[in-house]
Amino acid sequence: MSDTPARNWVPDEVDTSVPSMARAYDFLLGGAHNFDVDRIVAEQAEKLMPGAAKIARLNRAFLGRAVRFLLDQGVRQFLDIGSGIPTVGNVHDVAHQIAPEARVLYVDKDPIAVAHSELMLTAIDNAEVLRADMRDPDSILGSSQARRLLNFDEPIALLMVMMLHWLPDSDDPWALIAHYRDALPDGSYLALSHVTADQRQDQIADATDMIRESRSTDQLTPRTHDQIVRLFDGFTIVDPGVVGCGLWHPQGPGDISDNPEINAHVYAGVAEKKPASA
Ligand SMILES: C[S@@+](CC[C@H](N)C(=O)[O-])C[C@H]1O[C@@H](n2cnc3c(N)ncnc32)[C@H](O)[C@@H]1O
Repeated sequence: MSDTPARNWVPDEVDTSVPSMARAYDFLLGGAHNFDVDRIVAEQAEKLMPGAAKIARLNRAFLGRAVRFLLDQGVRQFLDIGSGIPTVGNVHDVAHQIAPEARVLYVDKDPIAVAHSELMLTAIDNAEVLRADMRDPDSILGSSQARRLLNFDEPIALLMVMMLHWLPDSDDPWALIAHYRDALPDGSYLALSHVTADQRQDQIADATDMIRESRSTDQLTPRTHDQIVRLFDGFTIVDPGVVGCGLWHPQGPGDISDNPEINAHVYAGVAEKKPASA
C-alpha cells in the first residue's frame, strides 16, 4: 500500500517523511495507520531481528494478560502511558469486558496515536486520552483528564508497556517512575515491558543503529535485566518476576513462542506498591 495525498486521519502537524515508532509498531501489529517511511523501518527491523512482528504480538498479548491480572486484584483505574495507536485489545476493551465501571486514561505523545484514540473513545464512557510526554509527570498527573477520571485515593495501575526503551538514560527513567510512584496510593501497581539486548545482542545493536540512522525522533535504548528490574524500585514485583514477556503467565498459544529467544526480547513484569510497613 503506498501513501496517497488524501489522508484525512493525519493531523496537519505530522511530517509523514519522518518515521514514527508508534506507526512502525502499528504496522508490525498489522494495523493500517502507517506510512511508507514507517513500513521501511518495520521491515528493516524484521530483517535485522527476525521475529520482530511476533515479538510485537507477544508484547500486546502480555498487555492484555496484565490488565486482566490487575482487574483480578481489584484495580479499576488504569493510567496507560505510551498507549500507542489503537489496535486490538486496547486497555479499555479488555477492562470493560470484566468491569464496565473501570476507568482508563490513555497518554501518548504521538499526534496520530492521540487523534485515533480520540476517535475510538467518542462513544465510550470512562475512558479518555491525553497528549503528553511521559517525561513531564506533572502535566499528566495534574491534567484535567486525570483529575476527572482517576481517584488518587484508590489503587491505580500505571502501565508503561513497550515504551521506556524510547527514553535514553539521560532522561533518567528510574527517577521519572519514582515520581509517578510517589503520586500513587498504596495498593497501586506498575506494569511494564521493555526491550533488552541480553539475548541476540548483535541483532539488537543492528536494529538500534538502523533506527538511529532513520530520521526518527525516537531512539531505542535496550536495557539489561538488572536495569529493568530497577525500574520497579519501591514496588514489590509479583511472580514470576521480570521475565521474557512470553513467559509472564502465558495462557494460550498466542501468548508464547516456541522460540525462547523470541519470548525474551522484551522483558515484562508487574509490581505492587505496598504500604511501607508491609
Ligand atoms: C511501541 S508503542 C507501545 C504501545 C502500547 N503500550 C503497547 O505496548 O502495545 C510505544 C508508544 O510509546 C509512545 N511514547 C514514546 N515515548 C513517549 C513519551 N516520552 N511520552 C509519551 N509517550 C511516548 C510512542 O509514541 C508510542 O505510541
